[in-house]
Amino acid sequence: MKKILITGGAGFIGSHLVRLFVNKYPDYFITNLDALTYAGNLENLTDIENSPNYTFVKGDITDESFVETLFEENKFDAVIHLAAESHVDRSILDPMSFVKTNVLGTGVLLNAAKKNWTNLSNKLFYHVSTDEVYGSLGEVGFFTETTPYDPRSPYSASKAASDHLVRAYHHTYNLPVVVSNCSNNYGSHQFPEKLLPLMINNIVHSKPLPVYGKGENVRDWLWVEDHARAIDVIFHKGIIGETYNIGGFNEWKNIDIVHLLCRIMDKKLNRAEGESEKLITYVKDRAGHDKRYAIDATKLENELGWSPSLQFEEGLDKTIEWYLANETWVSRITSGSYKQYYDQQYSKR
Ligand code: NAD
Ligand code: DAU
Repeated sequence: MKKILITGGAGFIGSHLVRLFVNKYPDYFITNLDALTYAGNLENLTDIENSPNYTFVKGDITDESFVETLFEENKFDAVIHLAAESHVDRSILDPMSFVKTNVLGTGVLLNAAKKNWTNLSNKLFYHVSTDEVYGSLGEVGFFTETTPYDPRSPYSASKAASDHLVRAYHHTYNLPVVVSNCSNNYGSHQFPEKLLPLMINNIVHSKPLPVYGKGENVRDWLWVEDHARAIDVIFHKGIIGETYNIGGFNEWKNIDIVHLLCRIMDKKLNRAEGESEKLITYVKDRAGHDKRYAIDATKLENELGWSPSLQFEEGLDKTIEWYLANETWVSRITSGSYKQYYDQQYSKR
């Protein structure tokens, strides 16, 4: 039985990945290591929590002795590393927690793998990263795997540092690694601090819809289950030492997405046409706000045969339906410390 450590499996993307691997590969044993920060939630995995090929371990990837003991006791064959601080706005408020988790935490995991993997055959350290490491695009062009790194927020700089560490362990110690850099994900179970779930939640409660700046920044949106499928493909077919960009060729200006959400939700909530659009509020821009991200995923499509499965309109509809059906999930995870963060974030804008 292949033993795989997935870090950050109680978060948004991690929970979709854990579910996919546990269900699709009964002959793999999946250990989900997660510190259950504000962003981690075991409710995301209730459907698979009793599966015989799955276990959850609560722990912090920055805790060196804990991580080393975990590796010694479990003899993992592979690591898929997603645990991270993931929200750009939070990295502007508190950069050091991003340095700690994303840089130090990745270093601790790499060291534990290096120490324990005395025989490197059939081992893999898969690092899940972001397109934000490439910086910001102008009106045209795409990020490819050879675009030079140019991170601009504490979040993206910490992810860039972690990517560099992973590649350094490959070049220096021959650690078998693979890295993927993905564009913006959307779908169920995303913490409602991120654009789409935040807007959906605020529309439901008729709260202001805070659009940063003029809303003209562009993001490239991918259905989260298509990201999980891409990780599956890269995990099994990717070439050691290579990097793969993941994206859906699906660029949207923020303001256009917000208008679209308002239109769809007016219908779903039986509101008069144009009612939700009245909630749109232009607020102070994010500091250092990257203008445009767009991923060229041709390498992944041509070399490994992956392509996105879902059109954006269909994915958005499923996402909205999920949030409408899971309002108790939203209210549970947004109570407590989230309210403090939300007030701090939006009262000053
Ligand atoms: P998330 O914030 O929803 O989940 C992160 C998870 O990591 C949480 O469950 C949290 O509890 C856990 N975690 C945080 N610090 C930890 C620590 N010190 N030790 C153990 N666990 C810890 O994030 P997400 O959106 O699911 O992103 C997952 C990964 O994918 C991240 O590495 C992120 O950089 C990357 N990524 C995200 C996107 C996106 O659009 N969300 C796109 C590309 C790449
Ligand atoms: O590109 C991949 C990245 O996408 C991931 O690495 C990050 O983990 C993930 O959080 C995401 O980063 P973004 O900063 O692009 O996502 P966010 O949802 O925070 O913002 C999307 C866009 O919407 C961005 O241009 C800022 C804008 N925005 C965001 C919020 C929360 C608003 O206008 N208003 C808001 O309230």
